[in-house]
Amino acid sequence: MYDYQAPENLLQDKIILVTGAGSGIGRAAALSYAAHGATVILLGRTEEKLNAVYDEIEDAGYPQAAIITLNLETAGETDFDNLAATLEQEFGRIDGILHNAGTLGIRTPIESYDPVVWQQVMQVNVNSTFMLTQALLSLTNTSEDASIIFTSSGVGRKGKAFWGAYAVSKFATEGLMQVLADELEHNTNIRVNAINPGATRTDMRANAYPAENPEGNPTPQEIMPLYLYLMGRDSRSVNGQSLNAQ
Ligand SMILES: NC(=O)c1ccc[n+]([C@@H]2O[C@H](COP(=O)([O-])OP(=O)(O)OC[C@H]3O[C@@H](n4cnc5c(N)ncnc54)[C@H](OP(=O)(O)O)[C@@H]3O)[C@@H](O)[C@H]2O)c1
Repeated sequence: MYDYQAPENLLQDKIILVTGAGSGIGRAAALSYAAHGATVILLGRTEEKLNAVYDEIEDAGYPQAAIITLNLETAGETDFDNLAATLEQEFGRIDGILHNAGTLGIRTPIESYDPVVWQQVMQVNVNSTFMLTQALLSLTNTSEDASIIFTSSGVGRKGKAFWGAYAVSKFATEGLMQVLADELEHNTNIRVNAINPGATRTDMRANAYPAENPEGNPTPQEIMPLYLYLMGRDSRSVNGQSLNAQ
C-alpha cells in the first residue's frame, strides 16, 4: 500500500468530502483525489486557505471543487444537519469522507492540563467527527461504493506522556472507527477504516516538535498512496482496519 500506484481515473465521478482541506495532509489529499477524477468538497475553518486549494484544483483542470467553511469546534447538530441537506441537494450522495481535520492542543502533563483546551481538542477531533459522520451516513448509503476514513495517530494506539487530550482523542477516533465498521460489516457498499499518517512535514508536526528538522519527514504528498488506496475501489473488501501511511 505504501507504493500503491493509483490508476489515473481511480476516483472518476466520485464525490468526496475532505475536512481540514486547507493545509497539510488534508490539502494534499484534496489535490490528490481531484487529480484522480473526484469532485472534492473542501471543508475547513479558514476560507482563504480553502479558496487557495480550490484555485489550485481549477488551475490544474481537475473537476470543479466545492467549499464549505465550518469551524468544527463550534459547529453543532443543526449545522451538520444543514450541511447534509445542502450536500444532498447539490450532489445527492457522498462516495467518500476523509475525516482529517485535527487540533493538537497542548503538550503538558495530565496534572496541569487545561480543561478548556481538553474540551476544545475533544470537540474538534472526536465529537464533531461523530456528528459529521452521523449527519452524512444516509448520503454515503446512497453511494454504490463509499469509503469513510478516520485519521488516527501513533499516540492513539499507545499512550505517551504529555500528549494529553490529543492522544485520548485519537484512541476515541480508533474506537469510533471500529464501532461503525462493525455496525456496517454487512453493508458491502460502505467501508470504514483509519489511517495513521506517521510523522509528516506539516504545521502540526512542527508545533509538536519545534526542535526537529522538518526535512527528515516525508511531505504530505509522499504519503498519499494509502489515502488513494483506501478511497478507491481496490480497497472494497477492507473494513475496520487501522493502517499506517508510512
Ligand atoms: N503531521 C503529522 O505528523 C501527523 C501525525 C499523526 C497524525 N496526524 C493527523 O493528521 C491530520 C492532519 O494533520 P496535519 O499534520 O495536516 O495538520 P495541520 O497542517 O495542522 O492541518 C490540520 C487541519 O485541520 C483544520 N482544523 C483544525 N481545527 C479546525 C476546526 N476547529 N475546524 C475546522 N478545521 C480545523 C486546520 O484548518 P486551519 O488551517 O484553518 O487551521 C487544518 O486544515 C490530523 O488529524 C492530525 O492529528 C498528523
